[in-house]
Amino acid sequence: MGIYAVTGSASGMGAAVVDRLRRDGHTVVTVDLRDADVVADLSTPAGRVAAATSVLERCGGVLDGAVMAAGLGPAPGRERPRLISEVNVLGVTDLLAAWRPALAAADRAKVVVFASNSTTTVPLVPRRVVRALLDGDVDRAVGTLRLLGRAAPTFAYAASKIAVSHWVRQQAVTREWAGAGIRLNALAPGAVMTPLLEQQLATPAEAKRIKAFPVPIGGYGDPEHLAAWVVHMLSDAADFLCGSVVFVDGGSDAWFRATDW
Ligand code: NAI
Repeated sequence: MGIYAVTGSASGMGAAVVDRLRRDGHTVVTVDLRDADVVADLSTPAGRVAAATSVLERCGGVLDGAVMAAGLGPAPGRERPRLISEVNVLGVTDLLAAWRPALAAADRAKVVVFASNSTTTVPLVPRRVVRALLDGDVDRAVGTLRLLGRAAPTFAYAASKIAVSHWVRQQAVTREWAGAGIRLNALAPGAVMTPLLEQQLATPAEAKRIKAFPVPIGGYGDPEHLAAWVVHMLSDAADFLCGSVVFVDGGSDAWFRATDW
Protein backbone atom coordinates (compact mmCIF):
# COMPACT_ATOMS: atom_id res chain seq x y z
CA MET A 1 0.00 0.00 0.00
CA GLY A 2 1.22 3.50 -0.78
CA ILE A 3 1.11 7.00 0.62
CA TYR A 4 -0.31 9.72 -1.63
CA ALA A 5 -0.84 13.48 -1.44
CA VAL A 6 -4.01 14.85 -3.04
CA THR A 7 -4.72 18.58 -3.42
CA GLY A 8 -8.26 19.82 -4.03
CA SER A 9 -9.41 16.88 -1.93
CA ALA A 10 -12.55 18.46 -0.46
CA SER A 11 -14.67 18.47 -3.60
CA GLY A 12 -15.34 17.05 -7.04
CA MET A 13 -12.71 14.89 -8.72
CA GLY A 14 -10.10 15.33 -5.96
CA ALA A 15 -12.60 14.02 -3.38
CA ALA A 16 -13.50 11.09 -5.66
CA VAL A 17 -9.79 10.20 -6.02
CA VAL A 18 -9.31 10.28 -2.23
CA ASP A 19 -12.31 7.95 -1.73
CA ARG A 20 -10.99 5.44 -4.25
CA LEU A 21 -7.43 5.46 -2.90
CA ARG A 22 -8.63 5.01 0.70
CA ARG A 23 -11.05 2.24 -0.34
CA ASP A 24 -8.06 0.48 -1.96
CA GLY A 25 -6.22 0.65 1.38
CA HIS A 26 -3.76 3.47 0.63
CA THR A 27 -2.85 6.29 3.01
CA VAL A 28 -3.80 9.71 1.68
CA VAL A 29 -2.69 13.12 2.93
CA THR A 30 -5.30 15.62 1.77
CA VAL A 31 -4.78 19.33 1.05
CA ASP A 32 -7.55 21.90 0.60
CA LEU A 33 -8.99 25.18 1.89
CA ARG A 34 -11.25 23.18 4.23
CA ASP A 35 -12.05 19.62 5.39
CA ALA A 36 -8.51 18.37 4.78
CA ASP A 37 -5.55 16.96 6.75
CA VAL A 38 -3.61 20.01 5.62
CA VAL A 39 -5.78 23.13 5.44
CA ALA A 40 -3.90 25.63 3.28
CA ASP A 41 -4.58 28.37 0.75
CA LEU A 42 -2.64 27.54 -2.41
CA SER A 43 -3.29 31.01 -3.82
CA THR A 44 -0.55 32.50 -1.61
CA PRO A 45 3.20 31.76 -1.46
CA ALA A 46 2.97 31.23 2.32
CA GLY A 47 0.04 28.83 1.91
CA ARG A 48 1.96 26.81 -0.68
CA VAL A 49 5.05 26.58 1.53
CA ALA A 50 2.91 25.55 4.52
CA ALA A 51 1.10 22.89 2.45
CA ALA A 52 4.30 21.49 0.97
CA THR A 53 6.07 21.33 4.35
CA SER A 54 3.16 19.87 6.25
CA VAL A 55 2.65 17.08 3.69
CA LEU A 56 6.35 16.18 3.84
CA GLU A 57 6.17 15.97 7.65
CA ARG A 58 3.09 13.76 7.50
CA CYS A 59 4.45 11.38 4.85
CA GLY A 60 7.84 10.97 6.54
CA GLY A 61 9.73 12.19 3.47
CA VAL A 62 8.50 9.47 1.09
CA LEU A 63 5.56 9.83 -1.32
CA ASP A 64 4.38 7.09 -3.68
CA GLY A 65 2.40 9.60 -5.63
CA ALA A 66 0.65 12.94 -5.82
CA VAL A 67 -2.56 14.12 -7.45
CA MET A 68 -2.82 17.85 -8.16
CA ALA A 69 -6.57 18.50 -8.42
CA ALA A 70 -6.92 21.87 -6.65
CA GLY A 71 -8.13 24.35 -9.21
CA LEU A 72 -10.42 27.27 -9.94
CA GLY A 73 -12.69 27.60 -12.96
CA PRO A 74 -13.17 30.66 -15.18
CA ALA A 75 -15.82 32.44 -13.09
CA PRO A 76 -16.24 36.20 -13.60
CA GLY A 77 -14.41 38.64 -11.33
CA ARG A 78 -11.53 41.10 -11.44
CA GLU A 79 -9.30 39.07 -9.11
CA ARG A 80 -10.11 35.75 -10.77
CA PRO A 81 -7.21 35.73 -13.30
CA ARG A 82 -4.70 36.16 -10.46
CA LEU A 83 -6.32 33.46 -8.33
CA ILE A 84 -6.47 31.07 -11.28
CA SER A 85 -2.79 31.70 -12.06
CA GLU A 86 -1.70 31.19 -8.45
CA VAL A 87 -3.76 28.07 -7.69
CA ASN A 88 -3.87 26.28 -11.06
CA VAL A 89 -0.21 26.86 -11.93
CA LEU A 90 1.91 27.68 -8.86
CA GLY A 91 -0.29 25.42 -6.70
CA VAL A 92 1.02 22.61 -8.91
CA THR A 93 4.59 23.59 -9.76
CA ASP A 94 5.67 24.95 -6.34
CA LEU A 95 4.29 21.93 -4.49
CA LEU A 96 5.73 19.38 -6.90
CA ALA A 97 9.14 21.07 -6.79
CA ALA A 98 9.05 20.71 -2.99
CA TRP A 99 7.79 17.11 -3.10
CA ARG A 100 10.13 15.87 -5.84
CA PRO A 101 12.77 14.47 -3.42
CA ALA A 102 10.06 12.58 -1.49
CA LEU A 103 8.71 11.19 -4.77
CA ALA A 104 12.23 10.21 -5.86
CA ALA A 105 12.65 8.39 -2.54
CA ALA A 106 9.76 6.03 -3.40
CA ASP A 107 9.88 3.15 -5.88
CA ARG A 108 8.40 4.29 -9.26
CA ALA A 109 6.31 7.16 -7.86
CA LYS A 110 3.51 8.53 -10.05
CA VAL A 111 2.13 12.06 -10.31
CA VAL A 112 -1.11 13.11 -12.00
CA VAL A 113 -1.70 16.80 -12.70
CA PHE A 114 -5.19 17.99 -13.64
CA ALA A 115 -5.03 19.86 -16.94
CA SER A 116 -8.14 20.41 -19.11
CA ASN A 117 -9.24 20.10 -22.70
CA SER A 118 -9.35 23.92 -22.64
CA THR A 119 -5.67 23.54 -23.58
CA THR A 120 -6.61 22.58 -27.15
CA THR A 121 -10.18 23.83 -27.57
CA VAL A 122 -9.96 27.51 -26.53
CA PRO A 123 -8.67 29.56 -29.49
CA LEU A 124 -6.28 32.53 -29.38
CA VAL A 125 -4.90 32.06 -25.87
CA PRO A 126 -2.11 34.68 -25.66
CA ARG A 127 1.25 32.88 -25.72
CA ARG A 128 2.84 35.64 -23.65
CA VAL A 129 0.48 34.80 -20.77
CA VAL A 130 1.50 31.14 -20.95
CA ARG A 131 5.18 32.14 -21.09
CA ALA A 132 4.77 34.41 -18.05
CA LEU A 133 3.06 31.61 -16.12
CA LEU A 134 5.83 29.16 -17.05
CA ASP A 135 8.29 31.75 -15.73
CA GLY A 136 6.27 31.87 -12.49
CA ASP A 137 5.58 35.57 -13.11
CA VAL A 138 1.92 35.98 -12.15
CA ASP A 139 2.09 39.81 -12.21
CA ARG A 140 3.22 39.75 -15.86
CA ALA A 141 0.51 37.21 -16.78
CA VAL A 142 -2.22 39.21 -15.03
CA GLY A 143 -1.00 42.46 -16.63
CA THR A 144 -1.65 41.00 -20.09
CA LEU A 145 -4.89 39.30 -19.05
CA ARG A 146 -6.33 42.61 -17.76
CA LEU A 147 -6.21 43.94 -21.34
CA LEU A 148 -8.71 41.24 -22.35
CA GLY A 149 -11.59 42.67 -20.29
CA ARG A 150 -14.46 40.31 -19.51
CA ALA A 151 -12.79 37.44 -21.38
CA ALA A 152 -9.82 37.54 -18.96
CA PRO A 153 -10.96 34.65 -16.68
CA THR A 154 -11.60 32.33 -19.67
CA PHE A 155 -8.15 33.04 -21.11
CA ALA A 156 -6.55 32.87 -17.66
CA TYR A 157 -8.05 29.41 -17.16
CA ALA A 158 -6.98 28.06 -20.56
CA ALA A 159 -3.52 29.62 -20.19
CA SER A 160 -3.12 28.09 -16.71
CA LYS A 161 -3.89 24.62 -18.04
CA ILE A 162 -1.65 25.06 -21.11
CA ALA A 163 1.14 26.15 -18.75
CA VAL A 164 0.82 23.13 -16.45
CA SER A 165 0.59 20.76 -19.44
CA HIS A 166 3.80 22.26 -20.88
CA TRP A 167 5.45 22.08 -17.48
CA VAL A 168 4.50 18.40 -17.11
CA ARG A 169 5.88 17.50 -20.55
CA GLN A 170 9.07 19.52 -20.08
CA GLN A 171 9.83 18.18 -16.59
CA ALA A 172 8.63 14.61 -17.07
CA VAL A 173 11.49 13.61 -19.36
CA THR A 174 14.33 15.17 -17.38
CA ARG A 175 16.96 13.53 -15.17
CA GLU A 176 15.22 15.01 -12.11
CA TRP A 177 11.88 13.32 -12.87
CA ALA A 178 12.13 10.39 -15.34
CA GLY A 179 15.76 9.91 -14.32
CA ALA A 180 14.71 9.69 -10.67
CA GLY A 181 12.09 7.06 -11.49
CA ILE A 182 9.09 9.40 -11.15
CA ARG A 183 6.28 9.21 -13.73
CA LEU A 184 4.80 12.67 -14.26
CA ASN A 185 1.65 12.86 -16.40
CA ALA A 186 -1.44 15.01 -16.88
CA LEU A 187 -5.13 14.23 -17.22
CA ALA A 188 -7.17 16.59 -19.42
CA PRO A 189 -10.90 16.25 -18.67
CA GLY A 190 -13.72 17.88 -20.56
CA ALA A 191 -16.81 19.14 -18.72
CA VAL A 192 -17.28 16.93 -15.65
CA MET A 193 -20.26 17.37 -13.34
CA THR A 194 -18.64 18.74 -10.17
CA PRO A 195 -19.26 21.89 -8.07
CA LEU A 196 -16.81 23.73 -10.39
CA LEU A 197 -18.98 22.99 -13.44
CA GLU A 198 -22.21 23.58 -11.48
CA GLN A 199 -20.92 27.07 -10.62
CA GLN A 200 -20.27 27.75 -14.31
CA LEU A 201 -23.70 26.43 -15.33
CA ALA A 202 -25.32 28.79 -12.79
CA THR A 203 -24.07 31.77 -14.83
CA PRO A 204 -26.43 32.15 -17.84
CA ALA A 205 -23.77 33.30 -20.32
CA GLU A 206 -21.40 30.53 -19.25
CA ALA A 207 -24.20 27.93 -19.32
CA LYS A 208 -25.05 28.93 -22.90
CA ARG A 209 -21.41 28.59 -23.96
CA ILE A 210 -20.97 25.22 -22.22
CA LYS A 211 -24.20 23.78 -23.67
CA ALA A 212 -23.21 24.88 -27.19
CA PHE A 213 -19.73 23.34 -26.90
CA PRO A 214 -19.21 20.31 -29.18
CA VAL A 215 -19.10 17.06 -27.16
CA PRO A 216 -19.47 14.12 -29.61
CA ILE A 217 -20.53 11.69 -26.84
CA GLY A 218 -22.94 14.28 -25.39
CA GLY A 219 -23.59 15.16 -21.76
CA TYR A 220 -21.03 15.56 -18.99
CA GLY A 221 -18.32 13.43 -17.44
CA ASP A 222 -18.79 11.61 -14.14
CA PRO A 223 -16.24 12.48 -11.39
CA GLU A 224 -16.06 8.79 -10.37
CA HIS A 225 -15.01 7.82 -13.90
CA LEU A 226 -12.29 10.49 -13.95
CA ALA A 227 -11.09 9.31 -10.52
CA ALA A 228 -10.78 5.79 -11.96
CA TRP A 229 -8.49 7.18 -14.69
CA VAL A 230 -6.36 8.92 -12.08
CA VAL A 231 -6.03 5.76 -9.99
CA HIS A 232 -5.05 3.85 -13.16
CA MET A 233 -2.39 6.50 -13.87
CA LEU A 234 -1.05 5.95 -10.32
CA SER A 235 -0.91 2.17 -10.72
CA ASP A 236 1.81 -0.17 -12.06
CA ALA A 237 -0.05 -0.04 -15.40
CA ALA A 238 1.40 3.47 -15.77
CA ASP A 239 5.05 2.40 -15.37
CA PHE A 240 5.63 3.20 -19.07
CA LEU A 241 3.56 6.41 -19.08
CA CYS A 242 5.78 9.51 -19.03
CA GLY A 243 4.91 13.10 -19.95
CA SER A 244 1.56 12.14 -21.45
CA VAL A 245 -1.52 14.36 -21.46
CA VAL A 246 -4.50 12.00 -21.40
CA PHE A 247 -7.74 13.50 -22.74
CA VAL A 248 -10.96 12.14 -21.23
CA ASP A 249 -13.46 14.58 -22.66
CA GLY A 250 -16.25 12.91 -24.60
CA GLY A 251 -14.44 13.53 -27.89
CA SER A 252 -14.16 17.35 -27.91
CA ASP A 253 -10.37 17.42 -28.36
CA ALA A 254 -10.66 14.91 -31.23
CA TRP A 255 -13.50 16.95 -32.77
CA PHE A 256 -11.45 20.15 -32.74
CA ARG A 257 -8.20 18.52 -33.85
CA ALA A 258 -9.43 15.68 -36.08
CA THR A 259 -6.94 16.56 -38.82
CA ASP A 260 -3.90 17.12 -36.55
CA TRP A 261 -1.21 14.50 -36.77
P1 NAI B 1 -14.06 21.43 -7.57
O1 NAI B 1 -14.37 22.89 -7.52
O2 NAI B 1 -15.15 20.47 -7.28
O3 NAI B 1 -12.83 21.11 -6.60
C1 NAI B 1 -11.68 21.90 -6.59
C2 NAI B 1 -11.07 21.91 -5.20
O4 NAI B 1 -9.93 22.80 -5.23
C3 NAI B 1 -12.04 22.43 -4.11
O5 NAI B 1 -12.13 21.52 -3.04
C4 NAI B 1 -11.42 23.74 -3.70
O6 NAI B 1 -11.63 24.08 -2.33
C5 NAI B 1 -9.94 23.49 -4.00
N1 NAI B 1 -9.27 24.79 -4.09
C6 NAI B 1 -9.64 25.86 -4.83
N2 NAI B 1 -8.86 26.91 -4.53
C7 NAI B 1 -7.97 26.51 -3.60
C8 NAI B 1 -6.93 27.14 -2.87
N3 NAI B 1 -6.68 28.46 -3.03
N4 NAI B 1 -6.22 26.41 -1.99
C9 NAI B 1 -6.49 25.10 -1.79
N5 NAI B 1 -7.47 24.44 -2.44
C10 NAI B 1 -8.21 25.14 -3.32
O7 NAI B 1 -13.40 21.18 -9.00
P2 NAI B 1 -13.26 19.88 -9.93
O8 NAI B 1 -14.20 20.03 -11.04
O9 NAI B 1 -13.22 18.64 -9.14
O10 NAI B 1 -11.82 20.18 -10.55
C11 NAI B 1 -10.64 19.45 -10.23
C12 NAI B 1 -9.58 19.86 -11.24
O11 NAI B 1 -10.01 19.48 -12.55
C13 NAI B 1 -9.32 21.37 -11.29
O12 NAI B 1 -7.94 21.61 -11.46
C14 NAI B 1 -10.08 21.80 -12.54
O13 NAI B 1 -9.52 22.96 -13.14
C15 NAI B 1 -9.92 20.58 -13.43
N6 NAI B 1 -10.94 20.45 -14.46
C16 NAI B 1 -12.28 20.41 -14.15
C17 NAI B 1 -13.22 20.26 -15.13
C18 NAI B 1 -14.68 20.17 -14.85
O14 NAI B 1 -15.48 20.26 -15.80
N7 NAI B 1 -15.11 19.96 -13.63
C19 NAI B 1 -12.82 20.19 -16.56
C20 NAI B 1 -11.40 20.20 -16.77
C21 NAI B 1 -10.50 20.34 -15.76
